[in-house]
Amino acid sequence: MDGLRLLVLSGSEREGSFNKRLAAAAGQAAQAAGAHVAPLDLRALALPLYDGDIEKAQGVPDGARTLRDALLACDAVLLSTPEYNGFPPPLVINSFDWLSRLAAEDGRPSGLATTANRPVGVLAASPGLLGGLRSLNFTRQYLSMAFAMLVVPQQFALARAGEAFDEHGALRDAKQQAAVENVVASVLRVAGALKSA
Ligand SMILES: Cc1cc2nc3c(=O)[nH]c(=O)nc-3n(C[C@H](O)[C@H](O)[C@H](O)COP(=O)(O)O)c2cc1C
Repeated sequence: MDGLRLLVLSGSEREGSFNKRLAAAAGQAAQAAGAHVAPLDLRALALPLYDGDIEKAQGVPDGARTLRDALLACDAVLLSTPEYNGFPPPLVINSFDWLSRLAAEDGRPSGLATTANRPVGVLAASPGLLGGLRSLNFTRQYLSMAFAMLVVPQQFALARAGEAFDEHGALRDAKQQAAVENVVASVLRVAGALKSA
C-alpha cells in the first residue's frame, strides 16, 4: 500500500464540521498505512449551483477542473459526508454534477472518464443516532451508478459525532477507529490491486 495517493473529501467544510474531522481521521489512518494523502476542499471549488444557463453562457467553471485534476492525481478517494434529510448534501452532489459536465479537453479526460473505475470509500458523521447511515446508500449509488466509481463494500457511519472526537481530533472509541481503518484498508487494497494489475 506504500505510495498510493489518496484524495480525501468532506461533504461539509463548515467550521467544526464532524465530517471534516472524520475525513481527517481517515486520512491519518491512510498515512499510517503508508499512503500519501491529499485533502481537497470542495467548498473552495466555488462552484455555483448547477444551472444550464450558466453552463451555456460561461462553460463549466474551473472548480470542476480542479476536482478532475485532483482525481486524476490520485489512486483512490475517501469521502466523508453529512446526511441532509436522508440524502447526501448539495456540496457533494453539485460538485460531482459539475464534474460530469466536463468534456475531455487539452489532453485530459472528461469528468466521467476520470471517475470511472476509481476506488472510493464512503463514510458519514452525524450528531444523530444513525450517523448518516441512511444517506450512505444514496452516496454509494450516485458514485457507482452515475460515475462508475468502485465503491468498496466497507463503510462507516459515525453516530453521536459530537462526543466522538478527543481534543486532538482522534476518535475516542477503539472500535470506531477500527471501523474507519477497515474502510481505509479496503480502499487501499483495491487501489493497490488495480495499480499492479
Ligand atoms: C438541512 C439539514 C438536514 C439534516 N438532516 C439530517 C438527517 O437526515 N440525518 C442526520 O443524521 N442529521 C441531519 N442533519 C444534521 C447534520 O447531521 C448535522 O448538521 C451535521 O453536523 C452536519 O455535518 P457536519 O458536522 O460535517 O457539517 C441535517 C442538517 C441540516 C442542516
